[in-house]
Amino acid sequence: MIDPFGRAVSYLRVSVTDRCDFRCVYCMAEDMSFLPKSEVLTLEELDRICGAFVGLGVTKLRLTGGEPLVRKGIMNLIRSLGRHLDSGALKELTLTTNGSQLERYATELYAAGVRRINVSIDTLDPHKFEAITRWGKLDKVLAGLKAAREAGLAVKINCVALKGVNDDEFDRLVAWCGDEGFDLTFIEVMPMGDIGGENRLDQYLPLSLVRSKLSERWTLNEIDYTTGGPARYVEVRETGRRVGFITPLTHNFCESCNRVRLTCTGTLYMCLGQEDAADLRGPVRMTDDDAVLTDHIREAISRKPKGHDFVIDRRSKAAPVPRHMSVTGG
Ligand code: GTP
Ligand code: 5AD
Ligand code: SF4
Repeated sequence: MIDPFGRAVSYLRVSVTDRCDFRCVYCMAEDMSFLPKSEVLTLEELDRICGAFVGLGVTKLRLTGGEPLVRKGIMNLIRSLGRHLDSGALKELTLTTNGSQLERYATELYAAGVRRINVSIDTLDPHKFEAITRWGKLDKVLAGLKAAREAGLAVKINCVALKGVNDDEFDRLVAWCGDEGFDLTFIEVMPMGDIGGENRLDQYLPLSLVRSKLSERWTLNEIDYTTGGPARYVEVRETGRRVGFITPLTHNFCESCNRVRLTCTGTLYMCLGQEDAADLRGPVRMTDDDAVLTDHIREAISRKPKGHDFVIDRRSKAAPVPRHMSVTGG
């Protein structure tokens, strides 16, 4: 699948539920209302759509949410998707999780073919963690990470950089990830959704600053490494682990974009920062003929926009992308 700008689409991100057991301040409003069940694709429908994408050349599937592991029966979907790993069509089946359910699922995930997961941890301070997630328990997530390691899963920690919230902890996070054997990515906060009338950009921190601050303490060596995601990585000489930077606001990575995202209602967004979308729920519910589904997917890819419109505009209270991050899972 090649889009109008010559980019091959090989990475599908699938938000399997809009629900989450946390309410991270940059992702959801505290009083989110969630979708009725009838609007949400069944696990079988999700499986069919993912299969169609794999048939069209997708080699990397990432499940997100909300929180993917709170979806009932999720392991059935993951186990089923594992068949594309067995056939060699899929190179990676992975997920981005808040870690709250990992203790329960780590072993099963590994058995289903998952080898690497991304876990969000913005702070190692339990009180701050509770404030950012609105009620999450850091202990539970740390226990999940231990289970993940014991199960053989490689872990990458995602840390959204928030000015005045966690910017005193970045050295500690790099050191901790080094000790634990985790890679780490810092992420610039993206202004999405109307989150309690707050302007997310008040907390916005350009990662160029984070990087230069880190380099006062650590030796950051440029490396040629990619996961096929948007991060640019360095290796920290003192820890031997990688640190990545995801910079949608200061350094646009759209020219090498290889991904599209499916919501749990079957809407395909061609870009995280644009509203263009295609409905795949209609076709999947209308017919068993996968050729119809495939045609809809091809048509959508032919409309993939050049890039996102995130801008740094401190005066504007309105988020440029009105949907919450939890709808598309990042
Ligand atoms: P890897 O496979 O480990 O590279 O994962 P990933 O970075 O692709 O996925 P993850 O779910 O861990 O996302 C990390 C951050 O990257 C989240 O904040 C996402 O919103 C952001 N991100 C991923 N893809 C895009 C994209 O295409 N555009 C923008 N603006 N942000 C993205
Ligand atoms: N800006 C940047 N990253 C975000 N995430 C959630 N909301 C935002 C936002 N507004 C991150 C989460 C998770 C990943 C899927 O996206 O922390 O790690
Ligand atoms: Fe849940 Fe992840 Fe959003 Fe936090 S960032 S509320 S853990 S989906």
